[in-house]
Amino acid sequence: MSKPEILMMGAYPQWDMDDLVSAYHVHMVWLAEDRDSFIASHAGDVRAIATRGELGASADLMRKLPKLEIVSCYGVGTDAIDLAHARASGIRVTNTPDVLTGDVADIGIGLALALCRQIPDGHAYVQSGQWANANMGLVTRFFGKKIGIAGMGRVGVATARRAAAFDCEIRYFDTAARDDLAWDFEPDLAALAEWADFLIVTLAGGAATYGIVDADVFKALGRDGFLINISRGTTVDEAALLDALESRKIKGAALDVFHSEPNIDPRFLTLDNVILQPHHASGTVETRKAMGQLVRDNLAAHFAGRALVTPVI
Ligand code: 8YV
Repeated sequence: MSKPEILMMGAYPQWDMDDLVSAYHVHMVWLAEDRDSFIASHAGDVRAIATRGELGASADLMRKLPKLEIVSCYGVGTDAIDLAHARASGIRVTNTPDVLTGDVADIGIGLALALCRQIPDGHAYVQSGQWANANMGLVTRFFGKKIGIAGMGRVGVATARRAAAFDCEIRYFDTAARDDLAWDFEPDLAALAEWADFLIVTLAGGAATYGIVDADVFKALGRDGFLINISRGTTVDEAALLDALESRKIKGAALDVFHSEPNIDPRFLTLDNVILQPHHASGTVETRKAMGQLVRDNLAAHFAGRALVTPVI
């Protein structure tokens, strides 16, 4: 029996590639000189898309694949997958929840600490030899501060639990209060920012949250406030963020995600009050192995006619 044909939108680590290539006919889009003609040449045979959170699968792409049965996403965020089209077309969709929650929450707290304690600056200070002349300037405390969390899903809850371990006060914004959580709910994002010392954004990406962290939120967060974004670049009004950083309307920002990855707005590159990360919050060996395993397990389950492991649709 011939191996199912799958379209891969971006590379996975080699340990996943080896397994996928042995189980399927894998058509690797990122290697094609002409992406559209490459997809067209395989379109009639492709039964699955293996994608990544930031790459997704558009309705236009799915329409080109008449035999498409499933989209398996290496990542938890499905905002770049046209779920409405998939649902209407009977195309299954899977993602990789839970296995990456801890890593992303770790980075959220790690970035908050690095930002307010200026850990990268301290490293540069020692390496530059400046310490021989004077002690580094004083920085900002993290423990015991007020942490506002925008988005109380899996990552938001894990981040809040970590912040609570630092004796921080927690409040959160979301579409509704969660009666299973003891922390205070704030239905107004700007009001949360007004209260908070740190605003950590863990919202899902997509139309409902597009640009929700805007100039009003930055004004409310204030000159002593810190923003950490570990969600999607699209949740933040990036022009307003850059203005707030350049004019010191907020004290600083630590960002793992941006509007145009990997070629981010060059204005970020000259700022001294940011910490920038390359969308790497889940980027540990342990987590990426678990993510890849989930993608492969979902594809294997689908083609074996078994229940999907982590279905979205
Ligand atoms: C992944 C992510 O790094 O889970 C997601 O949605 O954005 C990240 O955890 C990314 O999808 C892997 O390329």
